[in-house]
Amino acid sequence: MSIGWFPGHMASARKKAAETLAKIDVVVEVMDARLPGASSNPMIEALRRHRQRPCLKVLNKADTADPEATAAWMRFLVDARAKGDTVQAVALSCRKASDVARVPRLAQALAPHRDNPLKPLRLMVMGIPNVGKSTLINALAKRRIANVGDEPAITKSQQRIDVSDQLVLFDTPGLLWPLIAHPSDGLMLAASHAVGINAYIDEEVATFLGETLIRRYPRLLAARYKCDPTGLGGPELIDAIAQRRGFVVKGGRPDREKAAITLLNDYRSGALGRVSLETPASRAEMLAAAVSAQPLEDDPARAPPGR
Ligand code: G4P
Repeated sequence: MSIGWFPGHMASARKKAAETLAKIDVVVEVMDARLPGASSNPMIEALRRHRQRPCLKVLNKADTADPEATAAWMRFLVDARAKGDTVQAVALSCRKASDVARVPRLAQALAPHRDNPLKPLRLMVMGIPNVGKSTLINALAKRRIANVGDEPAITKSQQRIDVSDQLVLFDTPGLLWPLIAHPSDGLMLAASHAVGINAYIDEEVATFLGETLIRRYPRLLAARYKCDPTGLGGPELIDAIAQRRGFVVKGGRPDREKAAITLLNDYRSGALGRVSLETPASRAEMLAAAVSAQPLEDDPARAPPGR
């Protein structure tokens, strides 16, 4: 499945973000801790590197992610820093005030010269839809400024927020790349509700989610649905959920759609437990498989001599 999702306002948001980057000190890139690779936007990294802005990478919703996977991502993000690059990473929950209080302190360390009312620290909060940008901004500002909502891309216009005489925030609309490069990224984003509901089919996304969960978290599935997922595939898991919950359509067949939505909602709400959809190792594996599946002529390094 390829999910192509690029609402019109995003193209102008990208232009505006590029302009605003000139006026800020630190980029705060918010990602979903359950899928940091799929939920980090290459466009943000390219824009901020172009302007040579330091970056605080926030793995948000860490309360819903697998702590072991999050620790692996933290090590990966810190190790991946390019020479001379000023990047810091933190895993937290923007729903927790004490976690949010760490953000200005960590950002300040990336721009130590911006520490007084004459030179307030200027942060730009960036990230794809639904990763928690509005939640972070509201928590930092200690008032409701940005709309928090589970419908992706709810924050549409850019705004400047003077939090105190030492801290200024810039909010950008959600940015998502026009074409998701890897099908599994699209599926992870859809499962996590980072793309609009019209861009995907619930059953397809739930099948992918089910397969990931069977592989990585069989015990959580067993506890939630009282079934043994060993040896099941994604479609069979959905059937098993329908059966356990008594979801049937006319004629007695399992109501697969209802079961698929149940699985998606249980993952999204955290009812399944703390789950991460990818790790640095699984992402590296996926990327390597994508490269080796590329036709020879698309890869200059492997193209036959003379081309
Ligand atoms: P966005 O601006 O990046 O689009 O995201 P937004 O802040 O609107 O957050 C999207 C959803 O993610 C909201 O849920 C929000 O509460 C939730 N969220 C944000 N940060 C965290 C976190 O650290 N942990 C968890 N578990 N959830 C988080 P919602 O259900 O739509 O809204 P609400 O019912 O909470 O108001």
